[in-house]
Amino acid sequence: MIDTHCHYNHPQMNLHEGDAEQSIARASAAGVTGFIVVGYDLESSRRAVEIAETHPNFGAAVGMHPHGAQQYTEEFDLCLQEWAHNPVVVAIGEIGLDYYRNISPADDQTRVFARQLDIASNAKLPVIIHCRDAYADALSLLDRESVKAFGGVMHCWAGSPEQALQTVTLGMHLGFGGTTTYAKAQNVHESAAAIPLSRILLETDCPYLSPVPHRGKRNEPAYIKLVANRVADLRGISAEELIEEADVNSRQCFPRLAPLLKGN
Ligand code: NI
Repeated sequence: MIDTHCHYNHPQMNLHEGDAEQSIARASAAGVTGFIVVGYDLESSRRAVEIAETHPNFGAAVGMHPHGAQQYTEEFDLCLQEWAHNPVVVAIGEIGLDYYRNISPADDQTRVFARQLDIASNAKLPVIIHCRDAYADALSLLDRESVKAFGGVMHCWAGSPEQALQTVTLGMHLGFGGTTTYAKAQNVHESAAAIPLSRILLETDCPYLSPVPHRGKRNEPAYIKLVANRVADLRGISAEELIEEADVNSRQCFPRLAPLLKGN
């Protein structure tokens, strides 16, 4: 299994000496063979690159989360462009729009999102998208040739099945995480069943959004099988088949990832 969205760069995954390393060992024992550590600001992006450079089976993503749009400086822009050439950097993200918390003004979010889409396009990299209560605007910004060419993922899918199909039409994958196991997540359940199997990716978004029965506690990549089981149920296929397909999809979505995986 490949966890396409985890945050070993987050303080909550590093509560004591060796915390992250122990969590990585538990994940490996649970069958996780690949990880993408996703940045959300300058420091976490730098840390994601460091982790990927020092651990087998890890790729990094770098980017400014919409919450931090006002921290998007020229310095950060130059860092992103430089990181994009690093072979351990498999995507630009997480970038996008968040109108739920609106921590940065919508104008700033849009400008910074569009700029980072351009950087991804110049580097021929896929994008990892965070989108909350902003699907219409996000999908319209993602409707561009570079996204059709280099793709990406709408992470932690929470939209409707109609929006899911629209996202697929733009050339993107959908990431399913812990919320898939929540009883009330009707939209997520219907979306997971509605899109082609070839567009499904698995993720945890740890330390956030633990799957049932760990809901409310810290999440970690070792729990990803619970997500795989639920998605397989929703599709009426075996967990083995779903996991195999999601692995293939992850390599297809992030072409720079496979060379970083042991034994490829
Ligand atoms: Ni995230």
